[in-house]
Amino acid sequence: MAQQKSFSSNLGAIMAAVGSAVGLGNIWRFPYICGKYGGGAFLAVYLCFVFLLGSVLMMSEFVIGRRAQHTPVKAFQTLYPKNKAWGLVGLLGIVTSFFILSQYLVISGWTTGYVWNSVSGALAALGTDSAAISAFFIQFSTSPWTPVLFLAIFAVIVLIVILGGVQKGIENVSKVLMPVLVVLVLVLCVRSLTLPGAGKGVEYLFSPDFSKLTGEGVLAALGQALFSLSVGMGVMLVYGSYIPVKDNIFKTAMWITVCDTLIAILAGVAIFPAVFSCGFEPTGGPGLVFLVLPNVFNTMGAAGVVFASLFFLLLMVAAITSAISLLEALTAWFCEHTGARRWAGALLFFVVTTALGVVFSLSMGSLSHIKITGLTLFDFVDKMNSIYLPPLCALGTIIFFGWVMPEEDIKDEMSNHGTLRIGYYGLFRFLARYVAPLALLVVLVTGIIS
Ligand code: PFF
Repeated sequence: MAQQKSFSSNLGAIMAAVGSAVGLGNIWRFPYICGKYGGGAFLAVYLCFVFLLGSVLMMSEFVIGRRAQHTPVKAFQTLYPKNKAWGLVGLLGIVTSFFILSQYLVISGWTTGYVWNSVSGALAALGTDSAAISAFFIQFSTSPWTPVLFLAIFAVIVLIVILGGVQKGIENVSKVLMPVLVVLVLVLCVRSLTLPGAGKGVEYLFSPDFSKLTGEGVLAALGQALFSLSVGMGVMLVYGSYIPVKDNIFKTAMWITVCDTLIAILAGVAIFPAVFSCGFEPTGGPGLVFLVLPNVFNTMGAAGVVFASLFFLLLMVAAITSAISLLEALTAWFCEHTGARRWAGALLFFVVTTALGVVFSLSMGSLSHIKITGLTLFDFVDKMNSIYLPPLCALGTIIFFGWVMPEEDIKDEMSNHGTLRIGYYGLFRFLARYVAPLALLVVLVTGIIS
């Protein structure tokens, strides 16, 4: 089947998908949960999940997308026309992408605001007074207008890239931003590692402390593996439909998995040694990046302004290419179903997700009295986005892939119509049919019970 839209080359496909995978999850989330659940112990479990489950899910989304040449709902229906209800798995992916993007915009807006506050010197002016830094963050994130303004600026940047199209927008922007991101993270690693006493931070990150690796930590590792690789949301399925037909799906997925994991580890190396060297506790949790790091940068004198600006720019760059992939999945799905023009679909989802993002943002301030199951709107959607929706969609996808989709189609697609050797197939099939569904089921059941 002729490809409707595609990336121009294998490099372009890898860059765009790495752009989707590397995001706030790698730089904001991975380091603090890795530290929390036992450093090296967490890392070992995380690596198993990433390579044995995450990459398998990614390959299955790529195969479904490229084989079907459709967006999530129609892709499932095309590959198994006997039962159109499988399209619901695709729909679940779209719903998940929608809520993740709305929530992602909030943190991305904070990041954009912190780029501005670093460059303008507002953060530096707070000095090393932890109370002042946290008061600044609380005021910033709960004020009615400032985060909304930065959220809107960020969303407009994402919209402009999507309007540029698959090759000229997404691919070209990713090809520029990904190398920039690697340079930024390496510069920050060198700075962090050359500070006095940096070794303690490296030890914290890598030395395994199995006493901290609780059952909750194992679940967090699996959730993080899915989130970080952008699987279980239909996004990689849409990108899969853009992978050129001659590309090797296995190698492409492996490249993305390795790059995503390396960047997460490098982010930890950029953060923890600096935190320890400056005498802080790495226990900041989600606030590590917005509360502890500004303090760390402010101990570095004038150079701190430069490093703070570089760090928040790094975070923003990472967030842009991830948000792009989410908006692309929504746009492509909508346009395929309604026949609408690309610009109309992109604009529609830009407006709706931005509006919802504003509501989530306000739920930390003026709308904090609105609660669902005792949680603010932001916390509620955060829970849905991390514990329930992605594992559920991933489970549906992998059951379809392992048990419903005809196996000849899978082999034919993975071997590029018999022209590539697929020696890994036996193990891959075993993981896809048994290990991945079981692991996802355990995560879901435990998530629901707890
Ligand atoms: N993988 C991104 C991150 O680690 O920040 C988040 C993400 C992007 C999740 C795109 C899902 C997605 F479809």
